[in-house]
Amino acid sequence: MPKLTIDGKEVEVDKGLTVLQACEAVGIEVPRFCYHERLSIAGNCRMCLVEMERAPRPVAACAMPVADGMIIKTDTEKVRKMRRSVMEFLLINHPLDCPICDQGGECDLQDLAVSYGMDRGRYGEDKRAVPDHDYGPLVRTVMTRCIHCTRCIRFVNEIAGVPVLGGTFRGEHLEVGAYVERAIDSELSGNLIDVCPVGALTSKPYQFRARPWELRKTESVDVLDAVGSNIRVDVRGAEVMRILPRLNEDVNEEWISDKTRFACDGLKRQRLDTPYVRDAQGKLQPAAWDEAFAAIATRLKGLEGGKIAAIAGDLADCESMLLLKDLMASLGSPNLDCRQDGAALDASCRAGYLFNATIAGIEQADACLIVGSIPRTEAPIVNARLRKRYLQGGFKVGVVGPEVDLTYKYEHLGEGPAALKSLGAFAEVLKAAERPMLILGQGALRRPDGAAILAECRALAESFGMVKDGWNGFSVLHTAAARVGGLDLGFVPGPGGLGTEGILKGAESGAVEAVYLLNADEIDMARLKKAFVIYQGHHGDAGAAAADVILPGAAHTEKDATYVNTEGRPQRTRRALFPPGEAREDWAVLRALSDALGHGVAGDTVGEVRQRLADANPVFAATGRAIPAAWGDFGTAGALGAEPFQPAVANFYMTDPISRCSPTMASCTAAFRGGKAKGTGTDG
Ligand code: SF4
Ligand code: SF4
Ligand code: FES
Repeated sequence: MPKLTIDGKEVEVDKGLTVLQACEAVGIEVPRFCYHERLSIAGNCRMCLVEMERAPRPVAACAMPVADGMIIKTDTEKVRKMRRSVMEFLLINHPLDCPICDQGGECDLQDLAVSYGMDRGRYGEDKRAVPDHDYGPLVRTVMTRCIHCTRCIRFVNEIAGVPVLGGTFRGEHLEVGAYVERAIDSELSGNLIDVCPVGALTSKPYQFRARPWELRKTESVDVLDAVGSNIRVDVRGAEVMRILPRLNEDVNEEWISDKTRFACDGLKRQRLDTPYVRDAQGKLQPAAWDEAFAAIATRLKGLEGGKIAAIAGDLADCESMLLLKDLMASLGSPNLDCRQDGAALDASCRAGYLFNATIAGIEQADACLIVGSIPRTEAPIVNARLRKRYLQGGFKVGVVGPEVDLTYKYEHLGEGPAALKSLGAFAEVLKAAERPMLILGQGALRRPDGAAILAECRALAESFGMVKDGWNGFSVLHTAAARVGGLDLGFVPGPGGLGTEGILKGAESGAVEAVYLLNADEIDMARLKKAFVIYQGHHGDAGAAAADVILPGAAHTEKDATYVNTEGRPQRTRRALFPPGEAREDWAVLRALSDALGHGVAGDTVGEVRQRLADANPVFAATGRAIPAAWGDFGTAGALGAEPFQPAVANFYMTDPISRCSPTMASCTAAFRGGKAKGTGTDG
């Protein structure tokens, strides 16, 4: 390992690091604009200049690899002078926009100008102005503020895989932008706002709405897909103003998808803020909690357990699913399911429904077979990891399913399950791989032959050595935040019980008379017409419209709740603000309802409920960790259908009640998917 001296301190660092990284390793911060740890090195802003002994001129610390015997000085008068000069040059054309700039208060240029800026300018010429671009509904541009660091160009090329940005013209005429004026069609485009060190790229929906020092910040977890991206929720008063990513190397690194970031404006629209009970005329009327509970108690009185059923939707948290499961047990009902889409997931073997390779583990894989999944829309963060692995080289990808742009090259092996029987030359790729993986998507599991496809994929994983000591490449990619948690706590039909399809059929025939929907909005509500429907959730979406009694719950930003991501990693959301009006945390609603029904389930505090979760399944005690699951038997061998796999996510921007209520997501649907600009979950 090379030894070098930085500011008089002798340090030993890993080979291949740059001087800037070596400085960071010993706690010395070097100012930078263009350097970003997850992007390639550009070395073009010159802000990181340091003195190096025996070098004829200052060196850019971000671009200089460490070497044995180097003597680096980062804080001499000469270095400070050089940095002041760089700053002076950067400010020649920079506008004096701070008071009206959305980056104000969290701007690298502002911060460094405090340390290295001059108190007056020596340039009397007019400042140059650069026309702005239209990057679509999410990213606002003020290109006059651009300092040409090229981070945005590198981000779209390297991370997002949508190479639409670049530099045009030369020298002082250089402009950064799309070569052809167009919106940036990437599910990760919001990250441009974070990578831009200045206010050239800012959030369009958030523009002029708040200043960073006005916001209350809460660390939480996203639930709009099954990745469990770590987020920070910024709140002012009773409103979520914005969502930002939080670093978690194992999950989302420092990126989040555009839905995670921008759907937060859906949190304040169409909210259920009071209980409702349907009156004799068929109209939903606001009610007190007692009245709503009494209406449920009256309807359920004397009803035998087999006639009652419960379905947990995609946003349900583990605490409330556990209490609902207990309540159903005490009512004598085995009819419950957390697979509202009917996916043929087998709850009996944990390895059969987890993304066993883990998201970070993708970087260890050397071949990947994707079956019935479009990771780019189902989990953009997972897709970004796949692209990262692809760019490292030695990673071949085969796809059985829809042929779409995934941002990396792959071999298209077929559209439907038949291709699983004959992988052609790709079989040799999998055989030769040391750590092959298989990603199985919900598009393959939500079909009548889903259980057979699951069994077929298990057989493939076994025959291609995907499951061995220290490696399990069999990976189910979920789209619902609640799904793995629901399976972990056994929210599936009990002995002789009905699953989602059985419940819906039973409701049609009259065999099921009461259905409890916990955040379940994605089922065909017309099939529940004859049943008494209780809906617990936070948005006036499809479930609420079909309900006879509505119990208002809390959104993920309004409760401390557990969700298990697709890898099997339990994580907690934190309450950033209170639910609106009469709405309450979901576990508390179920606890109170069970008392009102005379079936008090155990758990008086959220801590007690969590302890019961851990007792039910020890994985819930391992918060933040993805515990490997034992391999076993799952799936049911059978005939594979001939139909091609369909995408599991029809429109990435609108997948759940929150994003369906978001005007920003509606604008994205209009801009990128050709949909209508306004829409809600109850629109036909
Ligand atoms: Fe001020 Fe930074 Fe905005 Fe420039 S980018 S106007 S320095 S806040
Ligand atoms: Fe850098 Fe921002 Fe300009 Fe892109 S727009 S080059 S990220 S300053
Ligand atoms: Fe080193 Fe920009 S950070 S040249």
